[in-house]
Amino acid sequence: MNQKAYITTPIYYVNDVPHIGHAYTTIIADTMARYYRLKGYDTFFLTGTDEHGQKIEEAAISRGRTPKEYADEISGKFKALWDEFEISYDKFIRTTDQEHKIGVQKAFSTMFNSGDIYKGEYEGHYCVSCETFFTDTQLIDENLCPDCGKETRIVKEESYFFKLSNYQEKLLKWYSDDEKCVLPKGKKSEVISFVKQGLRDLSITRTSFDWGVKLPDEINDPKHVMYVWLDALLNYITALGYGNDEKNMKYWPATIQLVGKDILRFHAIYWPAFLMSLGLPLPKHIAAHGWWTRNGEKMSKSKGNVVNPKEVADAYGLENFRYFMLREVPFGQDGDFSQKALIDRINSDLSNELGNLLNRIIGMSGKYSDFNISSKDVFDYHKKELTSVMEHIRLAETNLQDMQTNRYLEELWKALTIANQSITVYEPWVKMKEGDKEFAFATVAMVANILAKVSIVLHPVMPKTTQKIAKTLNFEISYDTYKKFIEDDSLLDDFKIEKIPPLFPKVEGELLNSPTPSVKEEIKKEEDSLITIDQFFQTKLKIGTILDATEVPKSKKLLKLRVDLGEEKPRQIVAGIKEFYSAESLLNTQVCVVANLKPAKIMGLVSEGMLLAAKDKEGLSLLRPQDSKKSGSSVG
Ligand code: MSP
Repeated sequence: MNQKAYITTPIYYVNDVPHIGHAYTTIIADTMARYYRLKGYDTFFLTGTDEHGQKIEEAAISRGRTPKEYADEISGKFKALWDEFEISYDKFIRTTDQEHKIGVQKAFSTMFNSGDIYKGEYEGHYCVSCETFFTDTQLIDENLCPDCGKETRIVKEESYFFKLSNYQEKLLKWYSDDEKCVLPKGKKSEVISFVKQGLRDLSITRTSFDWGVKLPDEINDPKHVMYVWLDALLNYITALGYGNDEKNMKYWPATIQLVGKDILRFHAIYWPAFLMSLGLPLPKHIAAHGWWTRNGEKMSKSKGNVVNPKEVADAYGLENFRYFMLREVPFGQDGDFSQKALIDRINSDLSNELGNLLNRIIGMSGKYSDFNISSKDVFDYHKKELTSVMEHIRLAETNLQDMQTNRYLEELWKALTIANQSITVYEPWVKMKEGDKEFAFATVAMVANILAKVSIVLHPVMPKTTQKIAKTLNFEISYDTYKKFIEDDSLLDDFKIEKIPPLFPKVEGELLNSPTPSVKEEIKKEEDSLITIDQFFQTKLKIGTILDATEVPKSKKLLKLRVDLGEEKPRQIVAGIKEFYSAESLLNTQVCVVANLKPAKIMGLVSEGMLLAAKDKEGLSLLRPQDSKKSGSSVG
C-alpha cells in the first residue's frame, strides 16, 4: 500500500457550538477519507479546532472564563459530536497543542530566514469577527465588514509582514498549470480574478492582545503574537509533525483540503504562498463548498434558526442525513435545509429505490430459489445492463474525486434505476410461470450484483447501511471486495440471501415539530439555566470604591481601574465602559463587583473582577449602592 491520501477539514473556531455547516464540511471530508481507504490508500484524515485570536479571547472574557478554559469546553463539544457521528478522523488537532505551537514557530523562523518576513507598521480596518483586515475600498458604508457586515475597528500597530506580493505571479502560474487545484471551477475563477487585482503584503503578527502563539525566541520580540490565520493554516502540516517528529509528513501534500466558500481566499491564496515560502509542495485540491440556509433564510444565532445536526441525525438517522446533505446540493452551491426535502430524499431515493430493491431481491429469491442466488448465467443474459451499470459507477467515482458529490450519487442511482427497471421489464415472475427459470434466476442475480456494486461505492457515505446490505448479499465491504467487484468487475459468488427487515421505513411527517430544533434547544437551555439559591450565593458580589481609572492605550472600549474591596490590596479591574464613562468621572464612586471571578487577561492586562452594569439601547449604567457603603460590603 504505497498510495497516500491526506484529507483535511478546516479547524473550527471555538466561539460557536457545532451546527449543520460544520457537520457538512466534516461529513464530506469523512466521505472522502472513507473513499480513499476503500481504494486501499494509506489515508490520514485531520480535523480539529482553531482556538487563538481576539475573537476567542473576547468570547471567553465576556463569559467570565479564561480563553483556555473556554476553548477546552467548546473544543470538547466538537470532538464529542464527531465521535458520536463516527467521523473517522485520524487526528483531532487543537491550535493550543504544544507541538502545534512549536511547529508554527518553526515555520515562522523558516519564512523569516528566507527573507519573506519583515517588520513594519500596520494601520487598517480590522474585523474581529472574521479576524481579517480590509482596505478602505473593501468596506461597506465606510466601516462595515464586507464579509459579515459587523463594525470594523481601526487598528494601528507595529507588525511583521509576509511578502505576499512576491507570490502573485507564482500563484497565478499554479492556478493555470494545475487545472483542478481549486474546485469547483467557478470558485477558482473568483480566486484568480482576486489575485489579478494585486496582492498586498500580509500583516501576520499582533500586539494588541496576547491570546496567540508567541514569535520564535530568536526573533526576540515578545509583545507580538501570530496572526490567527497564519497559526491556523499551519495546522495542516503541524498535525503531521512539521517542526517536531516529522514522520507523518510523508502524507503531505494534502489530497483534498475541504473548506467553505467563505474561507477559500485564505486557503487558495495565503496558504499556498506560505507553503511556497516554506519550500513545501502545494495541496492537490482545495475544494470549496457552499453554505446551508434554513427554509431559504441565512442561519444565525440571533434568528434562532440554526440547525442542530445532532437533533436531525437523531430524528432521521445519521446515514440518511449524510446522504441528504451530499445529494441535495451541487457541490460549491448554497443549499437549503428543510425537513420536507430530507423526508423526500428518504422516502423516494432511499426507501423506494435502494431499500425496495433489496426487498425485491429478498422476496424474489425466496419465492423462486429458496433464497439461493447464482451469478453463473448473468453475463449470458444481462451483459448489456451490467456494462452500462459499470459506466455509471466509474462516472460516479470520477465525480467523487472531483468533489461533485451530488453527481456521484446521481450516477449510483442511475445504476439502481437500471436494476429496478430490469425487474419491471423482464418480469421474472412471468418467466418463472413460463418455465424459463434460468432467465428469471439470471435477472434476480443481475440485480443483486448491481446492488452489491452500488453498495460498495456508496459505502463512504453510508458505511453501516451498505455493510448491512453487503451482509445480506454474503460479502463484506473492504478494499479486497472493492478490488474484486469494482476494479476487476467480478460477479458475486453463489450464495444464500440472509433476510433482514426493511432498511428505510417511510417517514410519514416531520419528525422535528415546532419549535424548530434550535429554538427547542434554546428553551431547554433556559430551563437548564434555572439556578438554586445556593448556586446564586456561589457568586460573591461586593461593593467597591474606585481609587484610580485610566484609559487602556489602543482600546476604544477599555478602562483600567483600581478598586478598593476592603482587602489588603486594591484590585485591578479592566472594564469595557470607556464609551459610557470618562476615567475622571469614575474616581471615588462606588460600584458593584463580582469578587470571586478567576483573573483573566484582557489586552495583556490582568483583570481581577467584573463590574455589574445594565445595558439597553440608550447606553450602559453601572450598578451602584443608593447610599455610600463601606468598601467590601457584601451584596445579595
Ligand atoms: N477557524 C476558521 C477556519 C480555519 S482553517 C485553517 C473558520 N472556522 S469556522 O468554524 O467559522 O468555520 C468552519 C467551516 O464551517 C467553514 O468551512 C465554513 O464555511 C463552514 N460553515 C459555517 N457555517 C456554514 C453554513 N451555514 N453552511 C455551510 N458551511 C458553513 O472559518
